[in-house]
Amino acid sequence: MNALYGLFLVCALALVALMGVGGAGLTGLFGIAIPYVAVAVFIVGFAMKIFDWAKSPVPFRIPTTAGQQKSLDWIPYNRFDNPVNNRDTVVRMILEVVTFRSLFRNTSAHLGKNPQGGPQVAYFSEKWLWLAAILFHYSFLTILIRHMRFFTEPVPWLFQKLDWADSVLQIGQPALYQTDLLIMAGLLWLLARRIFYPRIRYLSNAADYFALFLILGIVISGIYMRYVAHVDIVAIKQYSMSLVMFSPTIPETISPAFFVHFFLVCVLLIYFPFSKLMHLGGVFLSPTRNLPNDTRINHHENPWNPKIKPHSYEAYEDDFREAMVEAGLPVVKQPDEAGAEK
Ligand code: HEM
Repeated sequence: MNALYGLFLVCALALVALMGVGGAGLTGLFGIAIPYVAVAVFIVGFAMKIFDWAKSPVPFRIPTTAGQQKSLDWIPYNRFDNPVNNRDTVVRMILEVVTFRSLFRNTSAHLGKNPQGGPQVAYFSEKWLWLAAILFHYSFLTILIRHMRFFTEPVPWLFQKLDWADSVLQIGQPALYQTDLLIMAGLLWLLARRIFYPRIRYLSNAADYFALFLILGIVISGIYMRYVAHVDIVAIKQYSMSLVMFSPTIPETISPAFFVHFFLVCVLLIYFPFSKLMHLGGVFLSPTRNLPNDTRINHHENPWNPKIKPHSYEAYEDDFREAMVEAGLPVVKQPDEAGAEK
């Protein structure tokens, strides 16, 4: 049911754009007002979320440790899975962001039988999620960078080379981008996992499906424009450059299919800062990842602790020695011994 909500919402949004532009001719609304509002909401919303997280106190060291801690000199330790200084923590963060290492360690639990026939939980390595996540994120990034050709003039060398590399197989006309296939494979797997795995389906809510269907909607409408509708790219480039230069003009030859694609992108921008997609920025602020595990090396104090003057046992005994002796309690120093020291 949650999957249907997500699908229905994305189809409704696509229809709104199609009818708004194709039927009601609201190109000004969909082509100028909504895109500018969407970019503003994205930038302000993203910055506010990051600011909010950045100013949250982190009173405890809670790095996730995934390897031998630094200990005695002759015990080799795992510097990137259990970093003790800022440099190794930065390396760990880069490796996490670039290769999704923690996801690579993902396991799935299965209930089996032990030799006596009783129940036994077993954990198996589960790499498919990692593979689909890598496929999806890298394809998405490549597509975004390639799209910069619509917003730059002249198109920088790097973007041109990426475009060339992504269509190097020269299949069809216009040439097929490999990332179009890969992102579809990644997205469909991520979706199928939520729909067909009973345990994941149980955990999935409408927002999980909405994000996937929204991105799928953007990708499918993009693929449709390139390989089926053959939209007027020159007019679209003229339009997107005019948006960047803050003097928007909308050529009449732009097909409504483009506005469906573009409107879904605007919805994504508006939705992004308030959704789980903010893990893009949040990963850098996660105390389980951005803190070195140095609690055995440095003394950390919780800034929330009230300022209490320490009271050692020696001082305690000095304060109450007579009363303790009177009550028959054992003391380290007898009253005369303590008096002689004074
Ligand atoms: C979240 C952002 C976006 C995603 C994920 C996305 C995705 C895609 C995909 C997968 C395609 C198929 C062809 C290709 O891979 O290049 C495509 C095509 C296209 N997209 Fe986007 N897009 C996004 C944003 C935009 C924006 C902001 C524009 C505005 C100019 C745009 C305009 C187009 C056009 C004109 C095509 C057809 C390209 C062609 O015929 O070669 N897209 N998009």
